[in-house]
Parts: sequence; C-alpha cells; structure tokens
Amino acid sequence: SENLPLKGKKLLITAGPTYEAIDPVRFIGNHSSGKMGFELAKKAADFGAEVILISGPTHLEINDSRINLIRVVSTGEMYTAVHNYFEDVDVAIAAAAVSDYTPKNVATQKIKKADENLSLELTKTPDILLSMGKKKTHQKLIGFALETNNELVHAREKLLKKNLDFIVLNSMNDAGAGFKKDTNKVTLVYKDSEKAFDLKSKAEVATDIINEIVHLLDA
Ligand code: C5P
Repeated sequence: SENLPLKGKKLLITAGPTYEAIDPVRFIGNHSSGKMGFELAKKAADFGAEVILISGPTHLEINDSRINLIRVVSTGEMYTAVHNYFEDVDVAIAAAAVSDYTPKNVATQKIKKADENLSLELTKTPDILLSMGKKKTHQKLIGFALETNNELVHAREKLLKKNLDFIVLNSMNDAGAGFKKDTNKVTLVYKDSEKAFDLKSKAEVATDIINEIVHLLDA
C-alpha cells in the first residue's frame, strides 16, 4: 500500500561498532553510536518491513515488535548472525562500523603491565558486506563508506568490489556529520551517477535512504 511501501519485505541491517577482545577486560573498538543503523531500522519498520537489526555494543534501545534486535559483540559474531538471515531477506544494509582487525590471540588472563613496549598482533576480520556481495542473488545490497580523500573514486571502488546496489558516502568535510552526531550529510553513489543530500538529522537521512530502496525494489 501507499503508506506501507515495504509491507511483506524483510530487511537486514547491521549497526554500531564491534568490540574485539584483547584480554578478559580490554577490547579494540570505535566511536560508532549505532544511531544511523537504528534510525534505518525504525524507518523500514514504519514503512511496513520486517526488520532484523544486528547491532554491536551500543546504549541505544528499541521497543518495536516489527524489529528483531540481535545484539553481538565482535565482527566474527556479527558475521555469523548476518549469515543466519541473509539468504532470506530482500534487502541488506551494512551500517555497522566493523573493526578491520582483531587480536590474533585473546589472552585468557588480564595482560600485566611489564615492559616499556607492548605489541599486539592483529589479524584481519571477515568483511561481512563483501561476503554478502558474493552470496547475493535477489537481494538489494547497500553499504556505507567513510573516506578522507578521493571520496567518490574510493566509494565507487567499494561499490563494485562488494557488489552493491548503491553505497552511502558519509562526508568527512562537514562539522555535523559522522560518529556520535545526530546529523549526517551523505551522497548516494551508483556506478554511473550520484545523488548528494544536504546536512540533516540521521532520522531524515534514514528516510532518504529507505525511500531510495523503495524505488529500487519498485524498479
Ligand atoms: O571497505 P570498508 O570497510 O571501508 O567498507 C565499509 C562498508 O563495509 C560498510 O558498509 C561496513 O558496514 C561494511 N563492512 C563489513 N564488514 C567489515 C568491514 C566493513 O560489513 N569487516
């Protein structure tokens, strides 16, 4: 229907940071708040979709029977959770700020203060979005990119490499955009075109992105 353009659709959304354990009390993480992913989930649910929201550690909460919130901690856990659902969804949006590396060995005891220098050996985490791009058949797939230079070129490289329908480029060159902020400024990047949006609330950015997905599904 007109008011519920995503009725009957299933959306998978990843959100938040991931925490990679160093020892029982320490981790490697980042400043992602999860806001963008949670706003996308809310908007998709408002449009009638069934939503699976897979989130890393965040203080955000959601109370909506149409949203199945699955909380994970590490990239490995997020990867497993994503692939429990991916085959069955119509759309997947990767809004999580996933750690690219994880400690190679997790110490079983708290690491003691000792020498002047301490090295941690890190190993690559699985690229969740890339793995969805390789598996994708009917699904629409959307990713996010945060670039510091040659933004459009690098965003397009990711779009192609990860087999995405479009990629949401976050502007770094704007005071109101990004981590922990309530506002964001994005450009939706396609293979041969792009659509730039103004700085607005993350809720409004979510509406722009979900509307774009509605058009993709209709096309
Ligand atoms: O290549 P890069 O990590 O910059 O791409 C960012 C996009 O890839 C985001 O959509 C992010 O959620 C996703 N990603 C992922 N798994 C990773 C790394 C990034 O799903 N291990």
